[in-house]
Amino acid sequence: MTTPLIDRLTRLLTDTRARTERLVAPLTDDELHTQPIDFLSPVVWDVAHVGNFEELWLVRQLGGARLTEEEFDRLYDAFEQPRGVRGGLPLLDRYEASAYLDEVRAESLALLHRIELTPDDPLVRDGAVHRMIAQHESQHQETVVQSLLVRDGLETPLPDHAPPSAPRRVDDEARVVVPGGPFVMGTDHDPYAYDNERGAHRVEVPTFALDRYPVSCRRYAAFVADGGYRRPEWWTDRGWAWLQQTGHAAPQGWVPDLTGGWRVRRTGRDVALDPREPVQHVSWFEADAFARWDGGRLPTEAEWEKAASWDPATGTKRRFPWGDAPVTPARANVGLRRAAPDPVGSHPAGASAYGVEQLAGDVYEWTSSGFEAYPGFAAFPYREYSEVFFGGDYAVLRGSSWAIAEPIARTTYRNWDHPYRRQVLAGIRVARDVPATRGA
Ligand code: AVJ
Ligand code: FE
Repeated sequence: MTTPLIDRLTRLLTDTRARTERLVAPLTDDELHTQPIDFLSPVVWDVAHVGNFEELWLVRQLGGARLTEEEFDRLYDAFEQPRGVRGGLPLLDRYEASAYLDEVRAESLALLHRIELTPDDPLVRDGAVHRMIAQHESQHQETVVQSLLVRDGLETPLPDHAPPSAPRRVDDEARVVVPGGPFVMGTDHDPYAYDNERGAHRVEVPTFALDRYPVSCRRYAAFVADGGYRRPEWWTDRGWAWLQQTGHAAPQGWVPDLTGGWRVRRTGRDVALDPREPVQHVSWFEADAFARWDGGRLPTEAEWEKAASWDPATGTKRRFPWGDAPVTPARANVGLRRAAPDPVGSHPAGASAYGVEQLAGDVYEWTSSGFEAYPGFAAFPYREYSEVFFGGDYAVLRGSSWAIAEPIARTTYRNWDHPYRRQVLAGIRVARDVPATRGA
């Protein structure tokens, strides 16, 4: 027996796997096995971890067979094996990993036909665990991309088969005012939502202004040229200490050319920096310093989500910035169609109700908020997805990247990382205080 939901979940899992294969299959053995830096894993770890996660949370939870030993679970447990040690573990090679992933997947698909998808169990209701598995796989595709991008001299280029969207000339400093008033933050309904996005709650947000576009490389290069990395006044104390310690003088991958401009290292090649591209690979410290230099500040999570999801005309929340219609290439650059963000102004069809663009796809955006639980938070299905990170040394990133899957383009998704990390496909959008306007 099959149903539209079963078909949909089957397609979701199958399409996600095809993307993994497209990313991993062309890599050389060295690219697969080398640990690039001590906080990123060798690609083979991510690949088998994806299979093991699916075995743990889908196959075994739904009563399927145990396919591996406990010792194997420990090898691919993110907490048992901190990223720095993964390169030295006895990991499955590409052929073993691929066979294991196939075996797990066959079990998952068989279970999809054996279980009832609409019972009281929140794990299977509306395909919740299947959606989680697909998103988790896509999150690790993005981690693989990060590991590849951080390496110099990679032989294999990333899949890049779509041209950039038709460029549109825009004022890359344009701003939008979001009038003060309440909105609904988080969700109770989205079947893809992780525990940290629940539950929906009202938040009052004072009037503020937000950049219409992510910060372009042109704007960021002006900060660098103005001595941004040499002037402590733009940096927090901790950010300045980090800068002295690391010696960074520009975003990850930027290389000065001979004419005072920049080139940027992409896997397998070195290209002229496109000034219209959103800046990416900056840490929170750099994002925060840039915003201060620019006369503004980073937005809070609540400001970001209101600008992305609230429709003030109807007082309703949108799943994606443009509404509830599905993601399309015109609306957002996601899904590893390209190996780079699209120039700012490329996605007017993806604008939010307030007219803010590129809030979905291209690059995540650092916010000023630490990673905390929403009111009434309940861990689901396990504490180690979100709960153990609350209150830690993490800043929240909002939006989604060019490398992540379509469902993550939803307006409620929350990503987080340490403020000193630069491998994340993260950029900047500047917010500013403005005097309150009347009405909401
Ligand atoms: C939500 C991206 C911070 O990669 O650490 C993957 C996602 N959780 N496997 C991470 C995740 C478990 C997580 N981030
Ligand atoms: Fe994981």
